Amino acid sequence: MKINLANIKKAKKLLNLGECVAIPTETVYGLAGDAYSDKACMKIFKLKKRPKNNPLIVHYLNKQDLKKDCNFNSNFLKLYKKFCPGPITFILDLKKSSKISKIATNNKRSLAVRFPKHPVTRNLLKELKFPLAAPSANPSSRVSAVCSSDVKEDFGKKIAYILDGGKSSIGLESTIIDIRKKPKILRLGGLNISTIQKALNKKIVIQNKPSKISAPGQFKLHYSPGIPIRLNAKKTNDREAYILIKKTKLIKPNYYFLTKNRNLNEAAKNLYSTLRKIKKNKFRFIAVSKIPNKGIGKTINDRLLRASKF
Ligand code: TXA
Ligand code: MG
Repeated sequence: MKINLANIKKAKKLLNLGECVAIPTETVYGLAGDAYSDKACMKIFKLKKRPKNNPLIVHYLNKQDLKKDCNFNSNFLKLYKKFCPGPITFILDLKKSSKISKIATNNKRSLAVRFPKHPVTRNLLKELKFPLAAPSANPSSRVSAVCSSDVKEDFGKKIAYILDGGKSSIGLESTIIDIRKKPKILRLGGLNISTIQKALNKKIVIQNKPSKISAPGQFKLHYSPGIPIRLNAKKTNDREAYILIKKTKLIKPNYYFLTKNRNLNEAAKNLYSTLRKIKKNKFRFIAVSKIPNKGIGKTINDRLLRASKF
């Protein structure tokens, strides 16, 4: 992807003024602001209509930049070396001296931290003197945005600028791991858990359905297109949009293919844009064919299940 330096400069200027700017990442687009500024973080909450007790995830260029805000440990360093920049978010302990806005953390002593891989956003981070608080760029509890037109559709002129970086290559949010003590997964995401387990050489607890919710990716209703979804559907009627992952002999107007050859990475990349398209085409019901529960298929199923609790 060609980097447009003038666009990055424009984003930088607005962020320096405490404005919110949408930024591209390899997972989904983020709604970004200066993580050290209360004013900018407050704006993010307001734009997203996000509950104040749901802390913001903060994006850094690299661990050198993070050092002043968080404490590291050996598990973090192992995973950082192997997977960063990339689709993994760490929950770490905040340092007392950290300048991260208390609005962003909701006064918590921990911080969700990610190192995005997208070259446009990396170039932007290089230019800034602060890290970027950036939750997914969608109204709270709705489908995330995977291209600039999705963000425009959701926020219109309410946000100062959308930094375009094409379509997100992964298309699903990052995997969240609480790495402070015994590592546990709080949200399935773009990075496979088995790969993380291999890197740490141990089995990791998955705690994405706890009684005490610590990441709203864990809320039941989330990622919702606002239309009831039926999973593992073998048959459908013409009134339902039917989501498929392999070629069919017959093609009907209500068929939506995430991939034609069961390529689950391709399916992940197309999931959110397909849900948006179905909504635009005014379907009132969605049926989804069975999706293999392996690799990123697990994350696809997780999101569909949550979206289906409408
Ligand atoms: O891929 C991603 O992670 C994208 C891109 C833009 O980086 N961001 C994203 O942000 O999905 P968001 O806010 O939609 O999801 C981040 C999740 C939320 O569920 C939030 O509750 C959780 O991280 N979170 C934030 N701070 C936390 C903390 N201190 N402890 C536990 N969970 C936290
Ligand atoms: Mg989100």
